[in-house]
Amino acid sequence: MTDDPTLPSLEAVEARLAQIRAMDPAALEAEQIAILGRKSGVLTAAMRRIPSLPEGERRAFGAAVNALKLRFEEAIEARQAELAQAAGAAEPQADRTMPGRETWQGGLHPVTRVVHRVVDIFRRLGFAVATGPEVETEWYNFLSLNFPADHPAMDMHDTLYLAGQTAAPGERLLLRTHTSPVQIRVMQAGPPPYRVVIPGTVYRKDAFDASHAPAFSQIEGLAVDEGIGFVDLKATLTHFAQRFFGGDTPVRIRPSFFPFTEPSAEMDVRCRLCGGTGCPACKGTGWMEILGCGMVHPRVLENAGVDSERYTGWAFGMGPARMALNLYGVPDIRMLYEGDVRFLRQFAGAPE
Ligand code: PHE
Repeated sequence: MTDDPTLPSLEAVEARLAQIRAMDPAALEAEQIAILGRKSGVLTAAMRRIPSLPEGERRAFGAAVNALKLRFEEAIEARQAELAQAAGAAEPQADRTMPGRETWQGGLHPVTRVVHRVVDIFRRLGFAVATGPEVETEWYNFLSLNFPADHPAMDMHDTLYLAGQTAAPGERLLLRTHTSPVQIRVMQAGPPPYRVVIPGTVYRKDAFDASHAPAFSQIEGLAVDEGIGFVDLKATLTHFAQRFFGGDTPVRIRPSFFPFTEPSAEMDVRCRLCGGTGCPACKGTGWMEILGCGMVHPRVLENAGVDSERYTGWAFGMGPARMALNLYGVPDIRMLYEGDVRFLRQFAGAPE
């Protein structure tokens, strides 16, 4: 160092120590780099010169540089701690007497709860869960299910078709209007027997009112095997309804019509809101419709490649939102879809 005029003497470096106590953060950082920096810090440079010094001077010079380096490191650290403490003191102090903020706990939507419960009851009866696409062809949604080609449900007024999809007859794309097309897909995927439940979202060109939504959930069920009759349908669905709504809930089955089942029926349970005396929710009947069902039409089995001479089966389709209304006593279906947390949080802690 003594023989390099571009480097300051150790005494000159030592003189800079005293100023560190008064440096602001920017100056301190600059000084740290100027003195200790790995590339061009003056003490680093001094260390690098040791090998070129006369033998007798190396040890003493090295020790002096090292000692100085230590003193700089200590002084810089001390100043850094001082500055950090001052910065902390400048920040506003937390008020430890302030009450804590309540944390928001999410919960499952009432319709999701119903879907889980329904699926769970059928799972215990040996049913598997299947799903299918929400965008379907006209064939899967209608024609394979024995709808005649001029059925009013296929009208643009009721069904949402995908624009520009006007290819071959039966191939037009649409948003499925029910989960029944998944019956066909399940049967095409492998040989009988089948016992499945199929939860999913469906779409209709409906106005949003107290009992209708343009997009809603359905749960389909399908049981196909040798020797299955209407008694299996009635026993299974009655067992389900009483499991779901309570063992003593009155249930009834009455005739109905669907193109894909023969005979067809609908199942009602006692209205919970009025207990059977009649109210606006049950339109004064004392009953709430929860599902459509019936024996799978032989033509549907054949359309899916299942031998209708050998196999028979039954199917159902239910609306979990309607069931949620009845189960929880909710008067208007729109309340389920508005996303108002004051409504939804009432279900957050409800049992599954
Ligand atoms: N798919 C029918 C609907 O959406 C319900 C249903 C399913 C009826 C299966 C019978 C059998 O209304």
